[in-house]
Amino acid sequence: MTVQYDIGLSAHIRRHTTLPEPLRFPPGFLWGTATSAHQVEGQNTNNQWWVWEQQGRCWHGDVSGDACGWWRDAEGDLDRAAALGTNAHRMSIEWSRIEPEEGTFDRSAIHRYREIIGGIIQRGMTPMITLHHFTNPLWVEAQGAWLNPATPKRFARFVAYAVEALGDLCNLWCTVNEPTVYAALSYLQGIWPPGRRNILQALRVFANLMRGHELAAQTVHRQHPAHRVGIVHHKRVLDPASPASHDVLTTVMYDYLVNGLVLRRLRETSDFFGLNYYSRDHIAFDLRRPYHLFIRRFTPPHLEQSDAGMEGAFGEIYPNGLYRALKRVYRWLKLPIYVTETGLPDEDDNQRPRFLLNHLESVHRAIQEGIDVRGVFIWSLVDNFEWAEGWGLRFGLYALNERTGERRMRPSAALYAIIARANAIPAPGALP
Ligand code: BGC
Repeated sequence: MTVQYDIGLSAHIRRHTTLPEPLRFPPGFLWGTATSAHQVEGQNTNNQWWVWEQQGRCWHGDVSGDACGWWRDAEGDLDRAAALGTNAHRMSIEWSRIEPEEGTFDRSAIHRYREIIGGIIQRGMTPMITLHHFTNPLWVEAQGAWLNPATPKRFARFVAYAVEALGDLCNLWCTVNEPTVYAALSYLQGIWPPGRRNILQALRVFANLMRGHELAAQTVHRQHPAHRVGIVHHKRVLDPASPASHDVLTTVMYDYLVNGLVLRRLRETSDFFGLNYYSRDHIAFDLRRPYHLFIRRFTPPHLEQSDAGMEGAFGEIYPNGLYRALKRVYRWLKLPIYVTETGLPDEDDNQRPRFLLNHLESVHRAIQEGIDVRGVFIWSLVDNFEWAEGWGLRFGLYALNERTGERRMRPSAALYAIIARANAIPAPGALP
């Protein structure tokens, strides 16, 4: 498959950058895309999200259904990833398929994952595998999921099995995806299953997920000492809404909860840090929001946001935040960093090309200043099932019509292809 460059692309680059010469990335830099199992596979009937969707809890009653059809045919999208010239893909494996009942492991699920991961390798890409990306088997959920102190051990048993079965194909593992997001949305805000609003439960779930990360990392290292393991953290970049002390203190406290709590536990248990970065929030103290710890997150109206129609939900488009996040994490942990997700919901792709350019420029700036960034994975390869927002938000480099399965390349995919192939953000003059 050949990539047809959109004629408007060089115009995009010209308009949005003033580079006199290409910004080159280090040799071996990973240019990837990212997906997660439940969001793309389809028919993941054995986890808590499927049940939640059937209860009509997602936007417009959306359900994941066949999702992007990856369980049948991931290969078509892997062809598309390879056609972009990307050299890596981050995906997750679904615990509920591999261990559908407690202690019972399904060889046919492993077989399918071996095909998919093998397909990534055959196409010249490095696989990065996430072991937990928000979903739990129903039997885990029935036992209290991550509220149950026994769940980290059960997770580690699953990890031991999966890593044993797949460890010859992959040596880059993400343990747990975004523990703070899972704990907050499922147990504090209650907009994800199981829909609780209880801060003590949220803290317990968070602590157990971190324990799950530790045990999973030990498990991988025990089986394959040379493999690299890391957690994936959703790094919010936060600034106080005003210089008033109540806003500043609220920001410091919130930052500790959503960033500090994760960062302070990682040094001994990780080989790398997976950083997911999307946006910046402004933070104000607000007495009317007890379920949000008296915190109001918002984006002042004059700042740019995604035009996807969910005002405020995604925060500000703030490329410098990625630079700030990389610097802070590296200063703290001194570990290699992968940007395991960054992206924008943007169906008509009128903001994403600029988003990509400016965020990648931020990564480049961080690397120039000595931060050890090893790769970037764009969320996402193809539009997929966006959790509570169902099919309402479109993050894909490829657009998907989920009714027909048809894909269409967005201009930003062609832009990413140029960058990935060049291992550089080309200077505008060098563009086709
Ligand atoms: C998650 C993805 C999600 C993306 C966009 C991240 O928080 O890891 O699963 O689709 O954000 O909302």
